[in-house]
Amino acid sequence: PNILLLGPPGAGKGTQSGNIAEEYGVDHVTTGDALRGNKGMDISDLDVAYDTPGEFMDAGELVPDAVVNEIVKTALNEADGYVLDGYPRNLDQAQYLGDITDLDVVALLEVPREELVERLTGRRVCDDCGTNYHVEFDQPDEAGVCDECGGELVQREDDTEETVRDRLSVFDENTQPVIDHYDEQGELVRIDGEGTPDEVWSALGAAIEATL
Ligand code: AP5
Ligand code: ZN
Repeated sequence: PNILLLGPPGAGKGTQSGNIAEEYGVDHVTTGDALRGNKGMDISDLDVAYDTPGEFMDAGELVPDAVVNEIVKTALNEADGYVLDGYPRNLDQAQYLGDITDLDVVALLEVPREELVERLTGRRVCDDCGTNYHVEFDQPDEAGVCDECGGELVQREDDTEETVRDRLSVFDENTQPVIDHYDEQGELVRIDGEGTPDEVWSALGAAIEATL
């Protein structure tokens, strides 16, 4: 199936996309990870505010559509079923997505604002394999070390409190209209994203099954 997972920064999109990918054997397509792997790419020919994706990301701003649309098109072309996470983030991207693919499920993870800030500022990520942890909610067996691969756990540059607030403002301004758009089409499935990761997965997995 083709599954779109929406939600504000910190809602658990990356965490739950891993469950979806495993359950359905589909590709996890995430623009955030793809861009983190191309932070230094030269995009100066686009005539935009910065010369690399990384500069937009570290400021909490959206990377230009031209860059992100291309990443998504290539990834979706190669996928036989996918869970898409981190895209679309504005109405132009939603329009582009509608032109290149069909969605079977559109799900939204809903989490109160203050919990988002707490989750993001406490997140730690494995420098080697990308697994997410949290200083309170999801600690590794050994402090600072990844359970999966032994890699070092680091804080993402955009997870400081100030940049988290900026990312949430960008979400309100640019991405909330995308959610309203799918809601108006009657396609949106709302999931309470506030419980433990396992509780959220129970609710999300059941809602996906009911929609397919
Ligand atoms: P991106 O990487 O997509 O970041 P984001 O949307 O801000 O989402 P996050 O990865 O921060 O959160 P998440 O919802 O995946 O939550 P997670 O599972 O990690 O984008 C980064 C940047 O790239 C953007 O700011 C932009 O610059 C650029 N970009 C990306 N896509 C773009 C696009 N389409 N257009 C333009 N620019 C784009 O969980 C968060 C934390 O909470 C973790 O620590 C986790 O362990 C914990 N947690 C998860 N679930 C729970 C739970 N149920 N209870 C307690 N803790 C939990
Ligand atoms: Zn690791």
